[in-house]
Amino acid sequence: MTNSQSTKTATESADVLVLGAGPAGLLLANLLQRAGIDCVLLERADRARVETRARAGFLAPNTVRILDRHGLADGLHRHGQPHGVCEFRTGAGRFRLDYGTLGRGERHTVYPQQDLVTDLLRHYLEAGGRIRFGTEALAVHDAMTSAPSVTVRETDGRPARWRARYVAGCDGRHGAGRRSLPPGAVRHRRDHGISWLGLLAQAPPSLDAVGYAVHDRGFAGHMARTPDVTRYYLQCERGTGAGAWSDERIWDELDTRMYAAGHGPLNRGPILQRGVVDFGSDVVEPLRHGSLLLAGDAASLISPSAAKGANLAVLEAELLAHALVADLVHGDPGALDRYSGQALAHIWRAQEFSLWMIRLLHREPSAPIGESFFHESLRFSRLESLRTSRTQQDWFAENYTGV
Ligand code: APR
Repeated sequence: MTNSQSTKTATESADVLVLGAGPAGLLLANLLQRAGIDCVLLERADRARVETRARAGFLAPNTVRILDRHGLADGLHRHGQPHGVCEFRTGAGRFRLDYGTLGRGERHTVYPQQDLVTDLLRHYLEAGGRIRFGTEALAVHDAMTSAPSVTVRETDGRPARWRARYVAGCDGRHGAGRRSLPPGAVRHRRDHGISWLGLLAQAPPSLDAVGYAVHDRGFAGHMARTPDVTRYYLQCERGTGAGAWSDERIWDELDTRMYAAGHGPLNRGPILQRGVVDFGSDVVEPLRHGSLLLAGDAASLISPSAAKGANLAVLEAELLAHALVADLVHGDPGALDRYSGQALAHIWRAQEFSLWMIRLLHREPSAPIGESFFHESLRFSRLESLRTSRTQQDWFAENYTGV
């Protein structure tokens, strides 16, 4: 009998309920399972959707170290590709930063997130981990007590309730974890006023680097995913629909913005996936509310400008696992409060660098008319400093690869 077909009773229980089988939830569940903690992962999607959903794919060195530490990096060592160069293209030409030789001399690993999620799920199930697919968490109840519960809706629509000692909200920006924050939970939000049309193209990468094009018409980005698939981004007006641009218009606009003398047109191919992301930051503080803990996108939202989201999710999952083990196995009640402070320090460091990248790559959207030239001059001064100053390049490399 598979996990998802086991007989369900109206009320079930576990020591820790993990909501959401993304990078945060799956790593957390793996680590709790190994520590002998009775945990159950509740995931609203089915397994196929979880294992095929293309999201991020740019793993920071620390993410690889965390996965290595727990024997969960086999897939990324087999198929991941090291990446250590980014190329900036502007009206004044282009320059490359071999950031893998700068700062701490560390590189990213390009490994599609759906492959990492598939690896984590396989490890979890092989270790006897319990997961319920097709089970949507609706709300967390009594989070401020030591006996919280979660009401869920199963795929067949049947209601059920889960009781637990702790609930880990790893169910993303729209999940039950965020929805169930008690009154008074502080959320630091900022709308950056920028939107990107994110594209996944069935086309080999056109650059041997992460490409950032700073163009008068707007930003364009290029990031390899696999030898045959490339992720592109096009800055678009707020409110642009994902289907608003034809494939041809997309490729023509990418060619225009990413053109660099001596570099021909981009490798074209069918657009496999497209979606619009509005840049916003949204940090919950603290990350612990009684028996409800948040990690990953449920804890904080960050713009994709510096590719930090999935790396923060992994970092927070390990920190939260350590805290839950300290609390449940070693009887350290202060560990979960320390988790919040530790994770938030990393979150704000990532938010600060991500905002710096936003201001480097885009016009200031809210600049008063009379100041736009001032902001543009600052922006090109930052780019020139990045092009010419080794100190600035070391700072960039450390923050670009760090989490
Ligand atoms: N009940 C159960 N599962 C849910 C619910 C719910 N109410 N809502 C969402 N989910 C599931 C989603 O189906 C998804 O599998 O929670 C999971 C959340 O996964 P992610 O969105 O990937 O979140 P997280 O693990 O925090 O990773 C966030 O990874 O996707 C990248 O860069 C992206 O910053 C992001 C990071």
